[in-house]
Amino acid sequence: MELDLTGKTAVVTGAGRGIGLAVAEALTAEGVRVVGAARTITPELEKASVAAVSADLGTADGATALIDAALTELGGIDILVNNVGGGDADRLGLGGFLDVSDEQWRILFDLNLFSAVWATRAALPSLLERRGAIVNVSSINAHLPAAGPVGYSEAKAALSNLGKRLSEEFGPRGVRVNTVSPGVVGTPLWRDPSGFGAKLAESQGISHEQLLASIGEQFGIASGRISEPEEVAALIAFLVSPRAANIVGADYVIDGGTVKTA
Ligand SMILES: NC(=O)c1ccc[n+]([C@@H]2O[C@H](COP(=O)([O-])OP(=O)(O)OC[C@H]3O[C@@H](n4cnc5c(N)ncnc54)[C@H](OP(=O)(O)O)[C@@H]3O)[C@@H](O)[C@H]2O)c1
Repeated sequence: MELDLTGKTAVVTGAGRGIGLAVAEALTAEGVRVVGAARTITPELEKASVAAVSADLGTADGATALIDAALTELGGIDILVNNVGGGDADRLGLGGFLDVSDEQWRILFDLNLFSAVWATRAALPSLLERRGAIVNVSSINAHLPAAGPVGYSEAKAALSNLGKRLSEEFGPRGVRVNTVSPGVVGTPLWRDPSGFGAKLAESQGISHEQLLASIGEQFGIASGRISEPEEVAALIAFLVSPRAANIVGADYVIDGGTVKTA
């Protein structure tokens, strides 16, 4: 399918690896000029972007500096993918509600909710001018509150809610806002030996390899496997393209059938 994205411009947050990198690669392959951001600029991101910006997107200053840099580089923004999220494994506790400090709540809300608020606020004037599109990367955890670190599901639920609010306010003015909610995706977050997956395995008293091999069963994934970053990126590339021109305020789950509700 021709996505008709050639010549468009995009900002992708959290694009150094994982889903964000796959989105930058997919959009670049479609002829989009991409500015990608992360704290660490990886060689892969350098290759998949016209400019890579190093910024801490868990701060208002970092998120707005990214949009300023992107506007200078690109001249305007057609597509914003608010992908950054999760949280640094070494700063996340896996305990229950009573074990978790305000600091963890704040870190998770800053990165998973406010980063999108800040980037969207800064990019909207240009997106409105160009009748652009936004995709927020949420999670099935938005619908499964008891799973994952305390504060993560709550922040993603708020992010999914934000997508609907924005689509109601800005849909009539030509900016489409949609949400993509993945289940487990095979990114460094799960596969890196120092990532969240390894930490979760340790908390369960099993090896990282055992955890990765048992995720399908543990999470009740109907397809039997996790998603790959490229599969999530293909969905996002479609959603920001003119092929999806009347998809507004939707929330697409991509989870191999993990969520069981209709
Ligand atoms: N993987 C999954 O199973 C899964 C499932 C559902 C939803 N999601 C969501 O999908 C999104 C991407 O996840 P992923 O698995 O691809 O993550 P990942 O593999 O951990 O990659 C995260 C990217 O974001 C960057 N990043 C992290 N903190 C940052 C910060 N404070 N400022 C700037 N950049 C930052 C990282 O680079 P630096 O560390 O160098 O900054 C990296 O480039 C997240 O919103 C996550 O919640 C993931």
